[in-house]
Parts: sequence; structure tokens; C-alpha cells
Amino acid sequence: MFGGARSVLSLTTFLLTISLLPSPSRPATGSFIYGGCSQLKYNPGTPYESNLNSLLTSLVNSATFSSYNNFTILGSTPQDVVYGLYQCRGDLPMPDCATCVAHSVSQLGVLCFDSSGGALQLQGCFVKYDNTTFLGVEDKTVLMKKCGPSIGYNTDAMSRRDAVFSGLASAGGAYRVGGSGGVQGVTQCVGDLSSSECQDCVSEAIGRLRTDCATAVSGDMFLGKCYARYSAGGQYSKAKSDSSEEDAGKTLAIIIGILAGVALIIIFLSIIRKGFQEKGK
Ligand SMILES: *[C@@H]1O[C@H](CO)[C@@H](O)[C@H](O)[C@H]1NC(C)=O
Ligand SMILES: *[C@@H]1O[C@H](CO)[C@@H](O)[C@H](O)[C@H]1NC(C)=O
Repeated sequence: MFGGARSVLSLTTFLLTISLLPSPSRPATGSFIYGGCSQLKYNPGTPYESNLNSLLTSLVNSATFSSYNNFTILGSTPQDVVYGLYQCRGDLPMPDCATCVAHSVSQLGVLCFDSSGGALQLQGCFVKYDNTTFLGVEDKTVLMKKCGPSIGYNTDAMSRRDAVFSGLASAGGAYRVGGSGGVQGVTQCVGDLSSSECQDCVSEAIGRLRTDCATAVSGDMFLGKCYARYSAGGQYSKAKSDSSEEDAGKTLAIIIGILAGVALIIIFLSIIRKGFQEKGK
């Protein structure tokens, strides 16, 4: 049992290493936007660690059939509870959503090793977990902001952008896209917000883009539970071509996700079994 678990684990580690190597022809869903980890660390081998592993497995499995989900893994003590969610970009087909979340979870394992909380935003999906609850809580903290080069006071371009902004602000829904005269925009809320909270968050993100990226050719505003982005290049409405470019990586990433899930379940079961054996003595 243990020999088996160990060899599956080392295989998973190997595959995760492969998946972290930069892949030149894959700009789209898997590319990094921002990430962060809590300062607090958990001790390895604690129930919190196994709860976190089962949470991450649940996120990856759920992403094969739903573009948003949240999980709360209860422990025997309040300190062992772990909360988590993921949100895929609204236009991602299911296999791509699962690939993105699996990719994100494997990166978080490296980026936030030992941290009790972590969050990672990739182009195609957002994943977050923590030992304090944040589910259903609106969060408008600016986590990442980027403005493209200034095009100066080009009233034409700015009025097209304003038209895109008003369209996005009034569209409704967790995922919104809009375009006008070559300017493309997109907004996405995390699925735990109500529609009025989503509206509020999106308005805040758009308002900040308007002021902070006033004359920029493109802008990205990522808040705690939503984001708004625009670009004169139209790069945010190419999900179809993105996914065909990604076919090669997709299969590998799905295999990695499945193997990682299997490995985590085996480890989890062996911990439970060990727990029972110790209790039995
Ligand atoms: C979260 O984890 C840290 C580190 O283990 C711990 O100090 C803190 O009390 C935990 N918070 C909750 C709400 O359990
Ligand atoms: C979390 O998931 C449960 C079960 O899918 C759902 O009923 C609940 O509304 C979700 N909570 C939030 C805050 O999204």
C-alpha cells in the first residue's frame, strides 16, 4: 500500500514538473496573471494538510462539469476547516476549465507550499483557498492592475472605449463581453457573488480602469472577486482559437489532473487508515 502510494506520488511530482515547464505555443488559458499566499503556515502531516488536499482534489474534479464551485472541508476541530472555490472564465468549454483548474492547483502547490491560504489567477480561471471563510463575501481589494501604453488624448479611441464600458456595466451576468470599433472588453465575477454584488464589483473595476488607465490602449483591473479588462487589440474574445492551440497541452494537463487526484486520494486514504490503526491499538 505504502510502496504503491509512494510511486504514484513520485510519478505525479514528475508530471507536475513537466507541466510547470514553460510551453512556448500556449499563451492562453494557463498563463499566469497574479498569485499570492497567506503568511500563515500549516504544519505538514496535520489534518489541515489532508483537508486541503481533499479540497484541491474536489476543485479539480468539479471543474470537469461546472464553471464555478465552492467547497468547505470540515475537520474534527475548527482549526482544520478549509474553504475554497474556483471560477473559470465564462466562455471556457468544460475540458478547458478542468485543464485550467488542474494547472492552477498544481502551480499553487509549488507557489504556496505550506501556506494555509493561497490564490492564483490564470488567464482562464481563478482558484482560492483559505482557513478563514471568504465564500459569499464581496471583495473589491485591487489585487492586480496593469495599464498598457498611453495613446494620448485620442477622443475617438476613448469614446469607443467608453461605449464598451457602458455596455459591460449594463450587460448583467457574471461573465460579460463587449466590443466597439476594435476595442474589446470583458468582465468576470466569481460565482459566489449575488447579481447586485457582481454589479457593484464590476462598476468599481470599470470606474478604476477609467481613472487609472485613462489614456491607455489596454487595461486590466483585478479585484478580489471580479475583474474588468479591455484592449484595442481584441485579444479577449478569441477563446475558440486559444483552445485549438492548446489541444496538445490539454491532454497532458487532464492526465496530470486525474493522476494528481488519484494520488491525493491514495495519500488521504492511507492517512485515514493509519489513523484507524493507531486508534485500534
Ligand atoms: C489558520 O491557520 C493558522 C496557521 O495554522 C492559525 O494560526 C489560525 O488560527 C487559523 N485560523 C482559523 C480561523 O482556524
Ligand atoms: C457553495 O456551494 C453550495 C453547494 O453547491 C451552494 O449551495 C452554495 O450556495 C455555495 N455558496 C456560495 C457562497 O457560493
